[in-house]
Amino acid sequence: MFLTFLVLILADPRVVEPPLRVDLQPPEDFEYRSNRNNVHTAWITMPIDHFDPQNKDTYQMRFMFNEEFFGGDGYPIFIMVGGEWNISPGYLQGGNMYLNAQENRGFLIYTEHRYYGQSLPYQNFTTENLRFLNVDQALADLAYFIKTMKESPRFANSKVILYGGSYAANMVLWFKQRYPHLTLGVVASSGPILGQVDFTGYLEVVHEAFSSEGGEECMSIIKEGIQQTIAAIATTSGRQEVQRMFRLCSPLLYDDEYELGYFSGLISWTFSGSVQTSRPGTISAVCRNFLTDVYGTTPMEKIGGYVRATQNIGSSCFSTYEAYVRILRTMNNNSRAWYYQTCTEYGYYQTAPRSGTVFDDLVWLSVPFYVDICKQAFDQKFDEAFVYNAVDRVNRVFGGLAPNVNNTINIHGTADPWHVLGVHDDINESSPTYMVPRAPHCFDLSNWRPSDTIRMTNAQQAARRLVTRWLSQNV
Ligand SMILES: *[C@@H]1O[C@H](CO)[C@@H](O)[C@H](O)[C@H]1NC(C)=O
Ligand SMILES: *[C@@H]1O[C@H](CO)[C@@H](O)[C@H](O)[C@H]1NC(C)=O
Ligand SMILES: *[C@@H]1O[C@H](CO)[C@@H](O)[C@H](O)[C@H]1NC(C)=O
Ligand SMILES: *[C@@H]1O[C@H](CO)[C@@H](O)[C@H](O)[C@H]1NC(C)=O
Repeated sequence: MFLTFLVLILADPRVVEPPLRVDLQPPEDFEYRSNRNNVHTAWITMPIDHFDPQNKDTYQMRFMFNEEFFGGDGYPIFIMVGGEWNISPGYLQGGNMYLNAQENRGFLIYTEHRYYGQSLPYQNFTTENLRFLNVDQALADLAYFIKTMKESPRFANSKVILYGGSYAANMVLWFKQRYPHLTLGVVASSGPILGQVDFTGYLEVVHEAFSSEGGEECMSIIKEGIQQTIAAIATTSGRQEVQRMFRLCSPLLYDDEYELGYFSGLISWTFSGSVQTSRPGTISAVCRNFLTDVYGTTPMEKIGGYVRATQNIGSSCFSTYEAYVRILRTMNNNSRAWYYQTCTEYGYYQTAPRSGTVFDDLVWLSVPFYVDICKQAFDQKFDEAFVYNAVDRVNRVFGGLAPNVNNTINIHGTADPWHVLGVHDDINESSPTYMVPRAPHCFDLSNWRPSDTIRMTNAQQAARRLVTRWLSQNV
């Protein structure tokens, strides 16, 4: 009795979030880490509303900088543009932009996106207070920032190069299009530039990545495991098995399609995470575990074991859909801010494919499921029509897959599920696109690693070479 009680207390429910938000990790080249003291943090007073001259409210936007390479008058500024995450010193100490700045004696900056990290127009993220959270305002922040920097005599003659990854790659591309007078050129890494509500392509790439790295045998175990799990949900004894194998804190509400959507997500989001953070070789390692008994014996046990191990659940348990939306409703952090942007700008909902993948059977991963989160977390009026209209607006305003830009480098990896929504061809002769086989999300922003393929390294070098050429043509 006492023991049971203890276990319940220790079992802190784990809330798994859909992998809609990318938390861009800093590069790992420790060689440069010793320069920690070179990175400084500063703040700039920023209008909350750039489009209403009558609104005089301001907030403090955070940025970091490193001047160790700066050559002085006329030398360039390199800005890593922050997206839906907290900025940290890493990209000013290592990675591809750092090398590019070193080669060109550039001043290094990392800007934080409004409503993320410590750059907060409001402390309380009520739906009302979130109305100044959109990319139009964030791009205007960046314009205001660059304009302010260039008013200082030190930077008056400096050209500005922007780097961005994931959503921030959309931002740098759109910035180049909207404010061409403020930047010479941009490097856009893994930008899902097309907004899309029903994003079935995401899980199709997850399927393909497992299929090409792990082979048919691995895929048939995963397929069978998912099918067994769905069959188990239909019977009383099966439900107990599911609850045990997936370590659910409480029985699922089997009549509730959104509850089943969230449970389906526990499975698909785990596979998504393995692909999105993969490096060459890591997915085949997962598949070797599926082919042995590392995760369990039966296919369903293997899925449960893989989810438990990958999510590192330990002695804890997975919480319910109800708990997730309850927390999302009251939290004031990056998770809530980004979900808001998906409802009001991008969608990006990773729904079950309808094309014969192992994830097709998880039919509860639907647009109504993801939109229900918008309604519950923000406002009942954030319904499907609202979300579709919001995404249409972004595609209309920025031009979808046909942006009108020069001097823009686009880089994608085929192992990155987000590449489906990116620009795949050269935009024109001044704006090449690199589609790199087997490469993951935002790989090129980081440092070189021994597991990288030659083509990954080539793309990083090509970006630096082209940026350097733009700069040398413009002195
Ligand atoms: C945020 O605002 C809401 C609505 O006004 C209020 O109910 C809530 O207590 C506030 N939260 C915090 C942390 O201040
Ligand atoms: C946001 O806050 C919630 C509740 O405290 C937490 O579960 C979640 O991990 C936080 N997300 C981020 C990105 O910090
Ligand atoms: C690049 O494309 C843009 C938009 O289509 C066009 O205006 C421009 O002339 C092109 N530039 C070059 C160098 O081809
Ligand atoms: C791109 O460059 C071309 C050639 O220099 C120029 O004619 C065109 O106006 C530029 N387009 C944009 C969108 O800046």
